[in-house]
Amino acid sequence: MVGIDKIGFYTPQQYLDLKDLAQARQVDPNKYLIGIGQSKMAVADMDQDIVAMAANAAEEILDAEDRQKIGLLIVATESGVDQSKAAALFVQELLQLHHNLRAVEIKEACYGATAALGWAYDFVSLHPEQKALVIASDIARYGLQTAGEVTQGAGAVALLVSQKPRILSLEKQSVYRSQNANDFWRPNYSQEAFARGKYSEELYLQMFTQVYQQAAELISEKSLAALLFHIPFSKMGRKALQTLTTQLTDNDYQRLEQRFDKSIIYGKNVGNIYTGSLYLSLLSLLENDDTLKPDDRIGLFSYGSGAVAELFFGRLQSGYQTSLNPQKHHDLLAQRKKLTIREYEQIFQQHLVTDGSSQLIPSKRETGHRLFKVENHERFYK
Ligand code: HMG
Repeated sequence: MVGIDKIGFYTPQQYLDLKDLAQARQVDPNKYLIGIGQSKMAVADMDQDIVAMAANAAEEILDAEDRQKIGLLIVATESGVDQSKAAALFVQELLQLHHNLRAVEIKEACYGATAALGWAYDFVSLHPEQKALVIASDIARYGLQTAGEVTQGAGAVALLVSQKPRILSLEKQSVYRSQNANDFWRPNYSQEAFARGKYSEELYLQMFTQVYQQAAELISEKSLAALLFHIPFSKMGRKALQTLTTQLTDNDYQRLEQRFDKSIIYGKNVGNIYTGSLYLSLLSLLENDDTLKPDDRIGLFSYGSGAVAELFFGRLQSGYQTSLNPQKHHDLLAQRKKLTIREYEQIFQQHLVTDGSSQLIPSKRETGHRLFKVENHERFYK
């Protein structure tokens, strides 16, 4: 049995309240709070790039034995810091992992971490004495005053994959689809993503319906205790869930809806963290729902623009609660600093130098990993 043994989470220690964003953009706050279904979005300073966030998320869960047994390290991201070198190599050093492992980066929009998890599953199945570390780390940027601005966010989720997992065993069989589409993309020269917003929502729903139908043999009516979604904003996942109203009994739908509400608690306060979003939904469900039981079956819908979708399944392990850290994550979210619109816009417009000169990166953090310098086009972390 192979699956998720531990889950770590990190998000920057500051946020923008979306009521303030609504006021600044002269929009009815209910459009953001209800229409989009989000409350706050995390804002990353320059010292918290995807490498620093990835290392901070993983640091939370790794003990000495894990560090020794990791044979595969994958950082999944669509906001990578280098066109060539894998972010995983910086992370390997920051986490003080040994050198007898494979360290790579994977990209396919928000689907990247699911591809990585599949590889980790195969790796651990072949090498049961070893573990794999998958870290999803992203900063979602659409640009000031764009339709996507309200769906930004930043954060990282680390998944330790092992034999005899303590949280969620993963099932071998899943269903997936790919198709070339231009619903959302970010050219190499752009710091901000471009989206055909309405089309991206339609494609998300279309691919959800397709994989759900493809999975008919794997899903009997009562078999799912919860169904989790990639959450670019919570209304998107809710719309996908609502496509099932006519297919499910009232009881089954209500059960999925109640658990869906628990799965979006963290995401509503962090925003879109792209490839980590589905796994933040999983963490949010497990840390905020006290009705789940061991052996409950959970469906996970992964969607990455471009586009790839996959529906896969896992079973909760007995005693899974002891491997979680709800208090720490509630504190992490509660203790963040609220930014003013002015501060948020200033942070948004900051950039690292690109001319090879030396730049020391200011930091508000006293602990944890961070980018502290760029020089000669190289990044330096501690
Ligand atoms: P928009 O055009 O500003 O919003 O863009 P809208 O006018 O369509 O309004 C949004 C909702 O608010 C609507 O509800 C309105 O009715 C409602 P809906 O019809 O959708 O149910 N509304 C109100 N509700 C209550 N009170 C009010 C009010 N006013 C309006 N007063 C959009 C919205 C999501 C398109 C935009 O933010 C965007 O482009 N976001 C980025 C793209 C995105 O997130 N797409 C999601 C699917 S693709 C995906 O998930 C992949 C992704 O994560 C990337 C990756 O894979 O890497 C994005």
